[in-house]
Amino acid sequence: MNITIIGAGYVGLVTGACLANMGHSVACLDINKRVISSLKKSKIPFYEPGLSDLVSKNIVNNNLTFTSSYGTGCKSDLIFLCIDTPSNEDGSANMNNFHKALNLILKNAKKDLLLITKSTAPIGTTSFVQSFFSRNLKNKKIKIDACSNPEFLREGSAINDFQNPERIILGTYSKKAIKILRQLYLPICQDKKKLIIMSPESAELTKYSSNAFLATKISFMNEIAKISEVVDANIHDVRAGMSLDPRIGKEFLSSGLGFGGSCFPKDLAALIRFQEENNIPTGVLEGAKRVNDKQVNNFAKKILKFLGKNSSSLSITIWGLSFKPNTDDLRESLSIKLIRTLAPHIKLIQVYDPAAMKKAKKELEDISNISYLNSQYQGIEKSSILVICTEWDHFLSPKIEKIIQLKSKIIFDGRNMLDKAELNSVGIKYQGIGLK
Ligand code: UGA
Repeated sequence: MNITIIGAGYVGLVTGACLANMGHSVACLDINKRVISSLKKSKIPFYEPGLSDLVSKNIVNNNLTFTSSYGTGCKSDLIFLCIDTPSNEDGSANMNNFHKALNLILKNAKKDLLLITKSTAPIGTTSFVQSFFSRNLKNKKIKIDACSNPEFLREGSAINDFQNPERIILGTYSKKAIKILRQLYLPICQDKKKLIIMSPESAELTKYSSNAFLATKISFMNEIAKISEVVDANIHDVRAGMSLDPRIGKEFLSSGLGFGGSCFPKDLAALIRFQEENNIPTGVLEGAKRVNDKQVNNFAKKILKFLGKNSSSLSITIWGLSFKPNTDDLRESLSIKLIRTLAPHIKLIQVYDPAAMKKAKKELEDISNISYLNSQYQGIEKSSILVICTEWDHFLSPKIEKIIQLKSKIIFDGRNMLDKAELNSVGIKYQGIGLK
């Protein structure tokens, strides 16, 4: 099929490269000409495992092209809208870029099109898209069929998630859309039960609810972790005990610094804003957000309490800057928030991340008492404490002979990824979350 992806950001590029790899002819369109010219040279503006190779391979075999022209983009039969919908100040989704794209499609459409929204957009967006084109194309004798097809890709494993989906949601009233998209997804979704057809509104709400539910699980566990600390319980044991119940499951029950990234905080805020706008009482979702908003401060307080009155004469080391492992994405990274909270109270913060150093230098350029390490253990002997903020595999088995050089011989583990007993047995103190 001839497919256009509008928005060559994270979702668009992964979707485009994976569809091209399935043998389709895919054009990725973005109005940012600088991004398009880099992509033509296989230069990807962010780190996602396997993506660079997939893009290069499909450029070479001519399945994947890049353009800034809506004239070219509207020649395809299928258009995926993968446009960013960032948060407005009040939490609602900013749809400016999305609406600009709709107007450009309207101007350039010369044939029937199937328009599929992958952007996480407010409930009602797909119905709006359908009526926008039905209204404006009446005289052109062109028909546009709209469909919501939310994405469930996780950064760091997005290609695998695309190629092995747990479910595919199609929110549409268009029979044509259902027929074409069933065919498109058949190679990666042979199990018919995994492809669910519903109304556009239900599809849009499914996306928001999925992210909000996972975010709520995390906040729930972080709240339990606080109780755990007070009663001297062990949150790992509590989690293990809970998760053997299949109704609860084990995923997204890890307590730590909380959830970050470009999706959970944004989507949770948008859903809460939607509740407020529609006079729907908010309880659980607002609570999940509140718990998460406080999590970093609680951890910073623990660190500063430990460092005591002399903190401004001490150096510390932080491992992990990205919001999660296997990405260089710093959006809503709890590590960045922690650094900003601690910086005014500490002499020097030494930081290390396997992928996000370059982006962090830019993000934190206003902070002067920060030093970017060339390697994981550099300067450890000058540091009072080590703080872990992202669960990269690189940090799983720290070299004891290096860690023991920390002045206070203590690790603050913001991701509960290390074994307290093991560290204690070699003379290293340990402070996690939900653990005495
Ligand atoms: C999330 C969803 O998992 C995807 O299904 C969805 O498609 C995507 O958002 C999106 O809407 O685009 P992602 O933001 O890549 O994916 O990251 P997650 O792996 O879900 O992690 C989010 C945050 O939760 C991270 O900061 C992570 O450290 C934190 N987390 C995760 C915990 O604190 N505890 C856990 O047990 C799990």
